[in-house]
Parts: sequence; structure tokens; C-alpha cells
Amino acid sequence: STPRFLVTREIPEPGPSILKEAGDVVIKDGMSADELREAVTSGEYDVVLPQVSDKFDAELLSQAKIRGIANYAVGYNNIDVPAAAENGIAVGNTPDVLNDATANTAMLLLLGAARRAHEASEYLREGRFTGIGPNLLVGQDITGATLGIAGMGRIGKAVAQRALGFGMKVIFTQRPPHDRPVSDDELGDLAGRVTQVPWDELVETSDFISLHVPLTEETTHLIDRKVLRRMKSTAVLVNTARGPVVDENALVRALRDREIFAAGLDVYENEPEMADGLVELPNAFLLPHVGSAEGGSRAGMARKAAENAVAMARGETPPYEVKP
Ligand code: GLV
Ligand code: GLV
Repeated sequence: STPRFLVTREIPEPGPSILKEAGDVVIKDGMSADELREAVTSGEYDVVLPQVSDKFDAELLSQAKIRGIANYAVGYNNIDVPAAAENGIAVGNTPDVLNDATANTAMLLLLGAARRAHEASEYLREGRFTGIGPNLLVGQDITGATLGIAGMGRIGKAVAQRALGFGMKVIFTQRPPHDRPVSDDELGDLAGRVTQVPWDELVETSDFISLHVPLTEETTHLIDRKVLRRMKSTAVLVNTARGPVVDENALVRALRDREIFAAGLDVYENEPEMADGLVELPNAFLLPHVGSAEGGSRAGMARKAAENAVAMARGETPPYEVKP
């Protein structure tokens, strides 16, 4: 029979074309948890192509009458992957095509937070600019500063390349808060140009910390009150990974009390909500989860998610499979 695909929110080409060639496609304009539950348990669809905001917990997965979930994202913390496997539901993601875009977003946040871009822009738009000033909106040094990368995976490496281009010193912890040694082979052309350090050392010596870890039990609130207190008072925190990696209330306090210099955030603990007081802080440079929002990156994600979905509908292993 003809495969039936459910896309929970409009995705760019070539996603819809690939799906339409393989079967019948329903594209929604975002779905509530109840709407998603009803659709997924109805037996009307073979494969769902959701966003990271669509949650598939163990309870839903035990009732779901679908063959696969082709997540439109590289991260898949919205899906209980072991529970999906137990129920014979395949899971796929969209790796690599968003490495550069996300690394670019990390650099945008790093530069913007260090150089007070948000504050400077507001200052100008409010009509307060009366001429160049030696002390006007002075930020943190970037060239020569130390960037600590938490999680040297595909995106972490792309950030390291860029930071080296800016003349930064790059240190990293592979799997904070603990670590596992990374070989030169794994580092590829970054070998000898970046230094692996224990997490405690990274926290205390970095001028910038950029987060590139998946959200797991271990990384939930990796950046908490204690870690924020141990960071340099001149430090900048950048998060393009997942909101819950940072204790957002603790971060608001640290930024307000100037325990750290600034933060650049693309993700939030309870998206689209934000912790009380965060948006009022001049030293928080904030973006609305647009890490991968470059045209080519988004088209690549659409292609990979659609290819996963088509393979799942045919009962084949998806090309970009997430294994439990
Ligand atoms: C976006 O957050 C992604 O995981 O692709
Ligand atoms: C600044 O505009 C400079 O010329 O130094």
C-alpha cells in the first residue's frame, strides 16, 4: 500500500518533493501534544517527520501505530529512543548538514556577547549615539582569548576551526563533566592545535565556554550555580546545544550579579518560555533557536529527514539512523 507520511510543521524543499514521490503526505502547521497523540495512535500514518518540539515519550510510543520517526534535527532528546526500539519504531536524525550553520551561530553569539552587540544596537536605535567614544561599549578581547569547548563532536570541531581562525586558544573537554581521552586521529586536522583538559580546568581558565554536548541525564544542568561561580568574572557562556544543559535561573542570577560577563543563547530550558528576567538583561545576547537557520543547512536537513522517512516506510534501515 502507499506509504502515508505526517509532517508536523512545514519543511523546505526538497523534503516535500521526496515524500510526495514516495507516498501520500499530510503537512500540518504545528501540532499540540494532543493532536500529535491522536495522529500517531490513529493508524493513519506510517512515518512521522516531527520537530524537536514534538515529544515522543515512552507512554506515547507504546501506543503509537507508526513504523518510524524521522526527526527534523540532529538532536533527538525529544524522543525516548530505547522506548521507540522496544516498540519496533525506527528513529532517524539529520547529522552533518547543519555543522557549519550551527558553528556559525555559536561564533555569532560569542562575538555578539563579547562585543555587546545587542546593547550597542539598542543604544543606537534609541538615539543615544552622539559620536565615537574611547570608553563606549567596550567589550572583551577575542583574539588571544581562550575558548573552552564542551563536547568536541562534529559541531564542536567546526567551532574550534573558526575560533582558531580568530586567533583564539582552544581547549576542550570531550564528555563533561567526566571525560574520555580523544586521539589525534579523532581530532583530524585539529590535532596539535587544540588541547584536551579536565572539565574543572576548562571551567576555571576559559574566557569563553561554548556548549556542544547532547542533552542527557549527565549534561542536564551541566552549567549550574556552582560552575557559574567558578567561571571567570570576565567569561562569556555560549549555548547552541540544548537549553536544559544550563540552569537558566542560575544563569540569570549570575548575569545580573555580574558573576560572568555575558551569555549568548540560542536555546532555552523551556522553549519557547524563558527564565524570569532573562530578556531584561543587557548582557544576554539572545536568539530564538535558529542555530541551523541557513538555507542550505535547512534544505540538507529536509533532504535527510525525508530520505529517512521514505526508507522507514519501506521497512528499510534509514540512512541516518539513531540507534538506542
Ligand atoms: C536543532 O536544534 C537540531 O537538533 O537540529
Ligand atoms: C575607529 O573608527 C578608528 O578609526 O580607530
